Amino acid sequence: MATILQADTRPKIPDEIAQIVVSPKSYASDDVIYPALKWLRENMPLGVAEVEGYDSIWLVSKYADIRKIELEAKQFHSGDHNAVLTSQAGDAFTRSINGGSLRVISSLTYMDAPEHAAFRSVTSGWFLPGRIAKLEQQIRVLARQSVDHLLSFDGECDFMQDFALHYPLRVIMSLFGVPSEDEPQMLKLTQEFFGVHDPEEQRPEMVNDPVAAAKMWYASLQDFYSYFDDLSAERRRNPTDDLLSVIANSSVNGQPIPREEANGYYVAIATAGHDTTSSTAAGGMHGMATFPGQFDMVKADPALISPMIDEALRWACPVKHFMRSSVSDTVVREQTVYAQDRLMLCYPSGNRDEEVFSDSDTFDLRRSSAKHVAFGFGPHMCLGQHLAKLEMRILFEELMPHLESVELAGNPKLVETNFVGGYKKLPIRFKKK
Ligand code: HEM
Repeated sequence: MATILQADTRPKIPDEIAQIVVSPKSYASDDVIYPALKWLRENMPLGVAEVEGYDSIWLVSKYADIRKIELEAKQFHSGDHNAVLTSQAGDAFTRSINGGSLRVISSLTYMDAPEHAAFRSVTSGWFLPGRIAKLEQQIRVLARQSVDHLLSFDGECDFMQDFALHYPLRVIMSLFGVPSEDEPQMLKLTQEFFGVHDPEEQRPEMVNDPVAAAKMWYASLQDFYSYFDDLSAERRRNPTDDLLSVIANSSVNGQPIPREEANGYYVAIATAGHDTTSSTAAGGMHGMATFPGQFDMVKADPALISPMIDEALRWACPVKHFMRSSVSDTVVREQTVYAQDRLMLCYPSGNRDEEVFSDSDTFDLRRSSAKHVAFGFGPHMCLGQHLAKLEMRILFEELMPHLESVELAGNPKLVETNFVGGYKKLPIRFKKK
């Protein structure tokens, strides 16, 4: 943050609140994170968080500001600094092993115009709703297998571990052309990639050590790269109609896609595509099992599955933030944001903004949830959103007819992460139809 900013005029967020919003631990407890975000929206909707070990950052908690900043992508860049909030020690480590750059992965999330549009266009056609709809039958087969597995339990299971976790992974890996025997390896790498802050996801020697966490993240990235290097070379020799072949054989600005960017794509799709989706599916079940009448409504009318999924995206919001940095001095919500200032877009907060969603802590599929910001907004808005929604719709279409009732059988457990995560456990008791 620019040094002239150290004047007292900046609204400084109270330490306790700033600590909660920045700390990965807080996101494991809805009772901790959501009141802090609500405090921000009501008292300091755009303020500066100064947390030891982290850069000073603006916390963006209002729905309208998140959308404005995302939309003004020329003013607020994704790739000038780290697109994800990491400790200063973690960033220093990344620079030290990456030639001074924080772009440790050449994926869309770290790109800005014109590079971003050029690389996004490689797959944007593949992810369009019309193209994705053709995959419905292929995906339905996988959904049925998952439902059969759930129904093999005797009325009680962990909806996340025993059901939701594996299905989106199998969908994306099958569309990607990754052989099914390699899926456990992909799942492990993804969980390490996203779960660097959660002690249960970490290799033991790395708990509570930000540099070690960054090292682990980097190590999982290298494992991904070496896996995809081989598969990519194979698809160049023998192209198929899978998504990996589309990327491996693509051209950008008249040149074959470079190795770094191809790998960035593979990793982004392999990782972004399933933890988020399984957590949202679990959020939908959690909401239906907890809030009276919701399960029965969906059961009575399958047309409510899609609104239920939108509400699950809003309410469970598995992506907790992305960062932007300001290209030049500008004004947001009457505050001067200086060049290079970093802003944390707090999606779960936008999704609970009472100005847009009344009674926002309540899971209610009758509200208009589709305008949520769980997929972000603007040019970086989630590339896989139609696929994610299709997968979840099919999953619940296959599941709901087999269930008579569902209730929680214990407390849900959430991942400790300020980036991507959600449910670790969702114990449920169910009656089969
Ligand atoms: C419920 C599931 C999902 C959620 C909640 C989610 C959420 C998000 C969010 C919040 C962003 C950042 C948007 C922004 O910066 O404005 C994003 C970007 C992205 N997502 Fe998703 N996502 C999901 C599923 C998927 C799937 C299934 C795929 C692919 C198979 C995918 C691929 C991507 C990619 C490639 C980007 C980067 C787009 C860019 O920067 O241009 N996501 N997603």
